[in-house]
Amino acid sequence: MPAFLLRGMLTPLKEERSPLEYHLAMQDLIAQSGDLRLNQHSQVSVHADPRQRAWVEVDPNAVEANTLTVKSLLAKGCFLMAVVKADGYGHGAETVARAALRGGAKSLGVATLQEGIELRHAGLECPILVLGNLTHAEDLLACLQWDLMPTLSSSREAWLCQNLAESCDKNFSVQVKVDTGMTRLGCDLKGAPRLINTIENLSYINLKGVYSHLALADYDSNPQGAQVTKQQQKRFDSLVNSLGSGRRGFCFHLANSAGTLRDSALHYDMVRVGLALYGCSPISNLSNDLTLRAALAVKARVTLIREVPSGVGVSYGHRFITKRPSRLAVVGIGYADGVNRALSGRISALLGARLLPQVGAITMDQMVLDATDHPDIQVGSVVTLLGSEGNKTITPEHWSDLTGSIPWEVLCGFKNRLPRLII
Ligand SMILES: Cc1ncc(COP(=O)(O)O)c(C=O)c1O
Repeated sequence: MPAFLLRGMLTPLKEERSPLEYHLAMQDLIAQSGDLRLNQHSQVSVHADPRQRAWVEVDPNAVEANTLTVKSLLAKGCFLMAVVKADGYGHGAETVARAALRGGAKSLGVATLQEGIELRHAGLECPILVLGNLTHAEDLLACLQWDLMPTLSSSREAWLCQNLAESCDKNFSVQVKVDTGMTRLGCDLKGAPRLINTIENLSYINLKGVYSHLALADYDSNPQGAQVTKQQQKRFDSLVNSLGSGRRGFCFHLANSAGTLRDSALHYDMVRVGLALYGCSPISNLSNDLTLRAALAVKARVTLIREVPSGVGVSYGHRFITKRPSRLAVVGIGYADGVNRALSGRISALLGARLLPQVGAITMDQMVLDATDHPDIQVGSVVTLLGSEGNKTITPEHWSDLTGSIPWEVLCGFKNRLPRLII
């Protein structure tokens, strides 16, 4: 690839450029190319400026700071596992994994075998737990080879692991999941001591952890939330006690972000934290001493300005009709990028610290903002859909409240078409 492409187009731009400056920079790049022939144009477009249309900005320092903040709540000797599944909740798994480890996380949690292998491939060497169930022998074998810990919920899986490990003559580190009330993965509470005993006696298996998962720890408004969490805690305690402290070569863990932030009695030997590391609190009554920094912002450029009279229908279905002569800004981001169509007409974008209402239906690749009161907005201007500008912030929680969703889904929803820029 010609050096100018790398130098000029892949380097994130340090500061905003006006449309004219941007155009001149592009002309410069083409002029510098010298040997660039017409039939090489595909190369130019493939390596276009990642901030040409719409993008996600990821701040690893925020993840590192949030990890430190959450860690400050833990007793000495209680470890933090950073949950980086679903590509690090949409932020980029490797980036956030490294940041969380810098902040003091000791291990990583992923959902799938592939996610674990990708982190090993990237050179991460810490313990990695696969939180999802692996049912095929080939998958468990890959787990063994890549030094990933599978989650076991049954003796069938345990024996599979033992046989695979024996045939490779290699010890297999695993963790056992017990269901205390989530009713998803995990063995029944009643059968757990027996399963754990069996696993501890398998010669090629190293049992590294016994864990469960909270179902309602983040349910602030549900009066049953606290009660169900207490009940899960009691059940987990009974298991911990029945296994006896003398034989604990493994760690116990129960809490997600909500459990970790809510109650230190839920911490045990380790906590598994996802959402809070990305700067969102799953509980509303977060202590004033704790500040979490958003690690992700979503930005997009204005691609066209339209002056239209009053009474004009905007976008598919004409769900919005202008009520005055209007200045409309078309922005290059849509539901195929992860902005839920159900947010149509309900969100705003930040231009500096000013809020511009989004109007009409959000379409696959574009949306329209009402810029009538903002004559300075122009083609090439950058607006912030999620994130902070000046003293204003638009959070994933705000979007999820509008659609009856949850911030986890908002964060995981940003598609690969949006380049991730590390700032
Ligand atoms: C088993 C398990 N542990 C921990 C987490 C982290 O949860 P949170 O993002 O709420 O911290 C998850 C996420 O869904 C999970 O599935």
